This record gives sequence, C-alpha cells and structure tokens, in this order.
Amino acid sequence: MRTNYCGTLSSQDLDQTVTLCGWVDRRRDHGGVIFIDLRDRTGIIQIVSDPQRTPQSYSDAESLRNEYVAKIIGRVSQRPPESLNPKIPTGEVEIYAEKIEILNSVNKQLPFQISTVDSESVKEESRLKYRYLDLRRSRMNQNLLLRHQVVKAMRRFLEDEYNFIEVETPILTRSTPEGARDYLVPSRVNLGSWYALPQSPQIFKQLLMVSGFDRYYQIARCFRDEDLRADRQPEFTQLDMEMSFMSQEEILDLNESLISYIFKTVKNIDLIRPFPRLTYADAMLRYGTDRPDTRFGLELVDVSEIVKDSGFKVFSGAIKSGGIVKILPIPGGNDLISNVRIKPGGDLFTKACEAGAKGIAFIRVKDDNQIETIGAIKDNLSAEQKETILNLTQAKPGHLLLFGAGDINTVNKSLDRLRLVIGEELGLIDSNKMNLLWITDFPMFEWNEDEKRLEALHHPFTAPNLEDINDLKTARAQAYDLVLNGIEIGGGSLRIYQRDIQEKVFQTIGLSMEEAINKFGFLLEAFEYGTPPHGGIAYGLDRLVMLLAGEDSIRNVIAFPKTQQASCLLTDAPATVDKKQLKELEVASTYKPPKKEEEN
Ligand code: AMO
Repeated sequence: MRTNYCGTLSSQDLDQTVTLCGWVDRRRDHGGVIFIDLRDRTGIIQIVSDPQRTPQSYSDAESLRNEYVAKIIGRVSQRPPESLNPKIPTGEVEIYAEKIEILNSVNKQLPFQISTVDSESVKEESRLKYRYLDLRRSRMNQNLLLRHQVVKAMRRFLEDEYNFIEVETPILTRSTPEGARDYLVPSRVNLGSWYALPQSPQIFKQLLMVSGFDRYYQIARCFRDEDLRADRQPEFTQLDMEMSFMSQEEILDLNESLISYIFKTVKNIDLIRPFPRLTYADAMLRYGTDRPDTRFGLELVDVSEIVKDSGFKVFSGAIKSGGIVKILPIPGGNDLISNVRIKPGGDLFTKACEAGAKGIAFIRVKDDNQIETIGAIKDNLSAEQKETILNLTQAKPGHLLLFGAGDINTVNKSLDRLRLVIGEELGLIDSNKMNLLWITDFPMFEWNEDEKRLEALHHPFTAPNLEDINDLKTARAQAYDLVLNGIEIGGGSLRIYQRDIQEKVFQTIGLSMEEAINKFGFLLEAFEYGTPPHGGIAYGLDRLVMLLAGEDSIRNVIAFPKTQQASCLLTDAPATVDKKQLKELEVASTYKPPKKEEEN
C-alpha cells in the first residue's frame, strides 16, 4: 500500500514514484494550484496538484480537508528555489500527485487544530478528552518518540552490555509497601480476599535474586494511590533493576554508565562523571531538601548556635523546643524583594506559611554594612551576633537575609520553597543545565507524627549501614537517590538479606512478629534458603523523559495519563459498575453522595 514515510523523503529520492499514506495537515489553494501538507508519524511532505501537470488528481485534491486520511501516488521533484523550506527536513522536495485516493474523511468539527504549523494552545481538558487527536500533534508525537528511544537505549545498554534479563512480575499481588495507599482488586474466586496492585516490583525482584537470576530489569508499571502532582501519576512506569554480588560503589558506577549512555544516545549530551554526591545530612543542611536543584546557589546557613541565646524569643524559643534557625541569603535581594512581599499577605509570606511556617523574619544589609530589620528582631541581636551572621552568610551590601525559625522540618520545607521561587524569579536557573546528583546515607527511618511511630524512609527492605547496626533507630541506610535538576528520578539501596536483620527492621517500624509473618513470612522464609547479597534501584521513567523532553508535567510524556483527580477524561474511568458485578464479588459500596443542601 505504501512505499515510503512522508517525513523521510529528501533530494536523494528525486524522480522516484512513491506511494504515501497519511493525514492532511493543511491544504492551501494558490491560484489554481493546490498544495497539501501530508503528515504521518515521521513528519510532513508537500504534495502539489496542478491542473496542468497532474489534472487527474486535481478534483480529489480540491475535496481534501484537514485531517482527511489519504493515499497519494506521485513523483518526487525538486522544489523551485523560491519555495525551499529549510524549517522541515523534507523542505527541498515536493510530490506531484498523480493519484489521490481519499481513504477516510472527517465528519465532525475537529475539537482543536492539529496542524504542525498551528501553535494554538489547547486546554488540557480538551487534549485529554480527545487524546488520540492530541497525540497526532507534533509535540506529543515527539515526546512519545523520545520516550520510546529512552526505553530502547535502556534495553540495549542493560541487555547487550551488562547481561541483564527482563522478567515480568505480577500485577495482581499483595501489598508492596512503598509508602502510598494501595489500589485494591476484589477476588471473585476467593470471596472476601483482595489483591493489591504493586506499588513497585520490590519483593519479587528480590526473590528473583534468591532464585539466582543475578541481574534483573523490567519496564514495570507501578500503582500508587497518592495525592497527585505534576510529577506524580497513580499509575506510572519504572525502569526497575536488581543485581546480586555488587557493592554500592559498583551499583552506582553501573548506573552512572547507564544514565550517561541514555543522555548520549537520545540527546547527544556528554555527562561529566563521576556524578556529584551529597549525603542526606548535607543536602538537608545546605538546601533544606533531599532533592536539591543544584543548578543555582542560594544555599541555606544554619545560625542556630549564634542566635540560641538571643533575646528574640522566636529564635531562642524555637531552639529551646528542639528546632532550628536558618537563613536563606539572597544577594541583591534588597532591590528585588520588597517588604510587602515578605510581610503578612505578601506572596513570599504565603508560600512560607503554606509550608507550615508562621512568618518570615528578615535582615537587609545596607551600603555601609549596617543592617535594617523590622519588628522585635531589631533590638534583640547583639552587634557580635549581627557580625557573625553577616560573616557566615557572606552577606554584602544589598543582601536580603530571610530567616526560618521553628521545628526542623518546617524550617527546611519553607526555606526550600522560597529558595526555588526566588531562584526562578532572579533568573538563576539555567534551563540548559542537566545537574545530576546522588544523595547518599539516608536515615533508615523517619518519625510519623500521625501514627506516632517510626517508618522506613525508603522501604523496610533497605539495608542499614553496618557501622550503625547497634542503634537501628538512628542508623543510616545503604540507600541512594538520583536527583536531576531538583527532581528525584531514581532511588534504590542495598537490601537486607538476613532474616534476623529483616525481623529487627520490621520490629522497629512497629510490626509485631505475628504481623511481619502474616505479611512478609514468604520473604523471611526465602532468606533462609541461601539469599545472595543484593541491591538495586528504580527510575521513574516518566520523570526522566519529562526532563529530557523539557516538559514540566509527566502527563505530557504519557500516552493516556490521568488528571489531578486520577480520572481518565477519554474513557471516563473510574466509573460505576453493574450491580451484578458487585454482587458476584460480594462487594457493596458504602459511599453516599453528599446531599445538595450539604454541598451549599
Ligand atoms: P521509589 O518509591 O523511590 O522506589 O520509586 C522509584 C522512582 O519512581 C518514581 N516515582 C513516581 N513517578 C511518577 N509517579 C509516581 N506516583 C511516582 N512515585 C515514584 C520516582 C522514584 O524515584 N522499589 C523502590 C526502588 C528500589 O529500592 O529499587 C521504589 O519503588 O522517580
């Protein structure tokens, strides 16, 4: 039916007769001669129908409309010099259409323009409802192609260079703890029992190591019922890997090779190796987050020691109750950021409060290195304290110092947010940079205030640092995350492979022996049949592709994504189901839609 793809033709194909199939990107009538841009997934080519040269195709060309599907037979010709189009790869040639066959027409008004030349911005809602049309547009077409190339590079590297094999793991399974809620599926055959969809293939990939597969990978679909953001979807894809008999250093080295290979193959970018590293403690200290964007400075400074005895109660009180005081120093911030923005009602004030802060104290450094403040902070810092603060923050005239005081998490979270907003506003972020960074030495556990218990910071299969084994509660983990421009693109660890250590970790997160055996007895038992030391990592494929594509939402690199409300606008999922289906499953919904009056 077809001899060539539209976007691949060039002057090397001159004088050949080709058969092309595709969609009418647009049709232009130029004084009797009709030009058609025919589009397929590889690009567009200009078709010419001229009543003098190709009279038999002319009437068919006249009836073509945007997005009609057509088959065109014609000869590849050199374009005249005045109509060369260097903007498209096929811009030197055109096809004189000898025959045009309309394969299908468009019978309804298109919900939006699709043409590659149309830069009209379409509402996301409409794009998602008519996703099959949105995917015809060049932006999404390019993004999905890039995604395919990334996966292809991953497979080539892992299979051909490093002997990994791909193994599929179950989708109907038991809960795999990664910190989110599970999606549950009722069993018809075992009434009253439920499968959980995997939050990751974590346990199965470890069991594959017990089986001796040695190097496993999978392009794995994962399901997590959690609050959605631009970089989170309820179902997403991981490049999931696990390997036996490798040290943390060897695993990181292999992964740097993998990431460098992907960047080189799909983007021709040479990454500098080794990738920089920061310990979790340093990342929190300097940036207030474990996924810092290191494309710009604006590092935080901890001044708790200096202000702990100051008369300013906000500072000394915070430290007395176990908190901290940190500064976000902003060079030139005096001119750029007004008091109005920092004081109640201001945008920066609101940002800090959204992160839990009660307010922002600040100091402005004046020309003569004198400082200007407002409120109680003014009279409650000694000259010595002021000087030490200026030295530590390397403040110069023009600097604005924003203070966060309170519990550690709130201070870090609020200053991290302000740092990102201000970094962006001051134009400090170079969007061409690709800053990769390993974060290492995570704590094993963090405190869950709601449940009043420790929980695993990664997941409970992460191995503790052997130096810290005697005090598991405060131990560091042999875990690592890979951060790209402030976004966590991957995370992994060495694993526990001894039953007694795994039991201790379960105990530490508050699982009784009985619960541990009930939930993970099969894993504990497996550890007793000769389990090799092993470790692994998983990358968020959607996030990696998003960053490589320069997109700011993973929805733009997923063919059929969900909205922020976890629904699919194309198929209208999730939806109600037949009563009969529920009956068969012995499942009933207790949900009662809110009454109209209550809504108001
Ligand atoms: P983790 O939970 O860190 O580790 O997940 C690995 C990577 O998956 C991506 N990711 C997501 N992407 C889109 N939407 C989501 N809801 C989402 N959640 C996570 C992130 C993250 O870095 N089993 C471990 C890996 C291991 O230890 O080997 C795991 O799943 O980029």
